[in-house]
Amino acid sequence: MSILLNNNGYDNRSWLEALSRLMPERRIHIFPEIDDIEAIRKEIEFAVVWDHPRGDLIRYPNLRAILLLGAGTEAIDQETQLPDVPVVRLVDPEVLNDMALYALYWVMNFHRQYDRYREQQRDAHWQRHEICAPQDYRVTVLGLGMVGRTVASTLARNGYQLSGWDRFPQEIEDVHCFSGDTQLASAFADTDVLVNCLPLNAATQHFIDRHLLALMPQGSYLINVSRGAVINDQHLIEQLDNGHIAHAVLDAFASEPLPQANPFWHHSKVTVTPHMSGATYARSAARLVADNIQRIENGAQPFPLHQPAGISSAQAC
Ligand code: GLV
Repeated sequence: MSILLNNNGYDNRSWLEALSRLMPERRIHIFPEIDDIEAIRKEIEFAVVWDHPRGDLIRYPNLRAILLLGAGTEAIDQETQLPDVPVVRLVDPEVLNDMALYALYWVMNFHRQYDRYREQQRDAHWQRHEICAPQDYRVTVLGLGMVGRTVASTLARNGYQLSGWDRFPQEIEDVHCFSGDTQLASAFADTDVLVNCLPLNAATQHFIDRHLLALMPQGSYLINVSRGAVINDQHLIEQLDNGHIAHAVLDAFASEPLPQANPFWHHSKVTVTPHMSGATYARSAARLVADNIQRIENGAQPFPLHQPAGISSAQAC
């Protein structure tokens, strides 16, 4: 029986090679490069996909699991009909670590004022600027799921003063955790850098708006490593233009690739990176997919399981 592979516009070949190496007995069909999809629907047992066309996954009668090729679930959450099979996220520790290092790089950039030294070098200007100790530099991580926890712990381990906010109470060593609506204002008010790690869902769409940004201290910074649509772009531009937010580092956007005409590209207070803070690579992550397929073959539970938002619990596993 076979695997359907669709990394939707990203690299299918390295996934094909890595999965074939780990599971040589399986046929792997790359979607949509299939001559006659109707002829192979019955043989597909596992769909290994990223942002697959809506409504297609219900059309494989022998499907046993949907294995997502990333940690984000907003695409599968838009499905209104799915087969009654496990949906498994892909959370690769290498990706979590990459995202934490991305956040650490930018926090250090702001704390140590590296941009200022780059500018000084242009004028051959020699001047040292005093900065606070890392333990007095406040960073808040918004969203304390697997990504947020790793980011917060890495920053705390490097000596920064860490707070975190999540909808539900959390505990993380060396991180002061806020939770729920009542503590949201404190999380925003008491920070030098905010790192957004919130997942995108109905509750977080445009969550970071003018009101929350205005709670941040004058001259603070924003880093977004989750999803673009968690931020209200227009409100962020307002807060950058009026000088309230000093700089935003954005790795994710409501529309990707970021359209040429998007004002973020040329905004002097915005750094754009092309959703690379935590790219999932087959070289490490294919092993996690193969292990989950093996777990299912052995009658065990794959993980981490996801309950798609658009599917009732009676229908989903
Ligand atoms: C990447 O954005 C992911 O969701 O894994």
